[in-house]
Amino acid sequence: MSGVVAPGLEGVPIAESGISFVDGEKGVLEYRGINIDNLAAESTFEEVCYLLLKGSVPSESQLKDFESHLCENRKLRDGVIKIIRTLEPTGHPMDALQAAVAATGMFFKHNVSDPGYRYLAAIQLIAKLPTMVAAFARIRKEQEPIEPDHSLGHAANFLYMLTGEKPPEPAAHILDVCLILHADHTMNASTFSARVVGSTLADPFTVVCSAIGALSGPLHGGANERVVKLLQEIGTLDNVEPYINAKMDAKEKIMGFGHRVYKTNDPRATVLRGLADELLKSDGDNGVLKIARRVEEVVTARLGTKGIYANVDFYSGLVYNKLDLETDLFTPIFAIARVSGWLAHWLEQLEDNRIYRPRQIYSGEHGVTIARPK
Ligand code: COA
Repeated sequence: MSGVVAPGLEGVPIAESGISFVDGEKGVLEYRGINIDNLAAESTFEEVCYLLLKGSVPSESQLKDFESHLCENRKLRDGVIKIIRTLEPTGHPMDALQAAVAATGMFFKHNVSDPGYRYLAAIQLIAKLPTMVAAFARIRKEQEPIEPDHSLGHAANFLYMLTGEKPPEPAAHILDVCLILHADHTMNASTFSARVVGSTLADPFTVVCSAIGALSGPLHGGANERVVKLLQEIGTLDNVEPYINAKMDAKEKIMGFGHRVYKTNDPRATVLRGLADELLKSDGDNGVLKIARRVEEVVTARLGTKGIYANVDFYSGLVYNKLDLETDLFTPIFAIARVSGWLAHWLEQLEDNRIYRPRQIYSGEHGVTIARPK
């Protein structure tokens, strides 16, 4: 047995998985063997969920059934809404989401060894997360939550539940693509957390709560919130170069750049860059986009040789901001997408389960005694 600790388990394989694949040198991301560019152009988030959970693209009728199951299960229990009403309105929506998921799990009789239960639970979680996020987003502003609209797709319905207005088609489409791009990303911290908790045979609501907790940390989700702050602080095109240079000279990281795995363009950022262009041009507002593009040029000129490029968060921050989404909802939206990946990994984990039980190298003392004055 090796006596060497790998900090952060970097480079240590912890499972065999057939769900997603990343080639960080070539900038490739695939779900179940299908390139992310292809999925972003041709698929929907609902279809991608099916693909991740079941392993293959659904037939037309399978997709229809799957979409109906999701629609039928979007609504929250009254008890869960009551709990959301009691939550601290100034608290973070990720904490509210964790509470709402845990509360929802209490309404189920769990049986993780039953494939029927596993499917039902996966549907419940994917369907209900957007409703939970939207309900908290409204209740904290003293607005009534809005019932889901079954005529709308997953992304469009989420936007509708936030405002009560049916979103324009381009906005719904862009959010749908964002959800596709964030649905899975191999063995990241929240996915690993889901697999660890799943390996104890805990119920999937608890599994998802643990993953939401992991995602809430600033080193995982959350960089896109800080991209918005960065662009706001820069403010004008003329200020881009001095601002970025000053940050880099002070050895500060520029949010939305760099990736542990991608050492070339993040393929998700490439898709989002195109969407951001469309969105901002159609809006006639090129100010933010121009600043963002200039930031990308300046950072890439200084750090491109180190393999540091704009990542998915740089452009998702820009896009969500342009869709008028509140900044602290960005990470919950990440969870709305990633829950599909977490559940696919949970199902995969259960297929050949062994509880995670790594080992430590003890560096403490031995034989210490408590000496109390007699
Ligand atoms: N801005 C400025 N410099 C950066 C940078 C960034 N965003 N990302 C990495 N670097 C620099 C590091 O300072 C380091 O420089 P050095 O060689 O002089 O010490 C070098 O590039 C390598 O960085 P390192 O931290 O080892 O890369 P990593 O693979 O461990 O880190 C991230 C990856 C994502 C943690 C890191 O790039 C980062 O913090 N990015 C900003 C946050 C972000 O956008 N996160 C979302 C990721 S999807």
